[in-house]
Amino acid sequence: MRLALIATFIITAAVLFPVSVCFAAFAQDNLQNRTTRRPYSPSRIEKGLESPQREQWQQPDRVVAALGLKPGDIVADVGAGSGYFTFRLARAVGSGGKVYAVDIQDEMLAYIRAKMQQTGITNIIPVKSTPIDPMLPPGCCNSILLVNTYHELSDPVALLKNLRKALKPGGTLAIVNWNESVTRKKLYVPMDLVVEQMKLAGFGLSKSHDFLERQYFLVFSPLD
Ligand SMILES: C[S@@+](CC[C@H](N)C(=O)[O-])C[C@H]1O[C@@H](n2cnc3c(N)ncnc32)[C@H](O)[C@@H]1O
Repeated sequence: MRLALIATFIITAAVLFPVSVCFAAFAQDNLQNRTTRRPYSPSRIEKGLESPQREQWQQPDRVVAALGLKPGDIVADVGAGSGYFTFRLARAVGSGGKVYAVDIQDEMLAYIRAKMQQTGITNIIPVKSTPIDPMLPPGCCNSILLVNTYHELSDPVALLKNLRKALKPGGTLAIVNWNESVTRKKLYVPMDLVVEQMKLAGFGLSKSHDFLERQYFLVFSPLD
């Protein structure tokens, strides 16, 4: 009996150890060798990011409600694109709050500025960032959101470490990204890999929402 238990332990360890080593190596490899993803083309804003059909599967108001924002909160929409979420976040935090619309592409920020002028919404601050530096003030944000952006990050852990510095104590970072079934293979980032890379950047998973059919929606908090 005792011999059988010892044998089971040795076999389990022999199987699990290489698996965990492989996964850690995969996460590291993914950080070091991943080529910069081509950022979403601004020419596809109207047919893609702002398409009227998006509301149905994206459920943006439900996503924003799930963030639990309060009037006066400060939020960063990282990889803001055309501002599909930015303007909804701006409404949620009200005129006493603000939203940093962070993107690496000038065309996206120009689109957001034009929409701010059209709508008269003023509590949005467009921020031109670099692939690893969100250019946010330290400790500025109650909440940070990345929607459909994670797969474009060239060095996720470096960016995430900088985003961690931009959070206020008690702040959270939420990631919404494609499920395997709805995206091209090269754009798919497994949820486990996101959790692993977030861990390397000093975050732990605190919540996972499952109401989106096409995407996972994960909420993280800084560890310690
Ligand atoms: C597919 S769009 C998503 C836009 C928006 N979040 C939405 O859901 O409608 C991804 C955006 O992320 C931006 N992006 C890519 N890498 C980035 C990075 N490292 N930092 C900030 N923005 C980035 C791209 O320029 C692009 O506008």
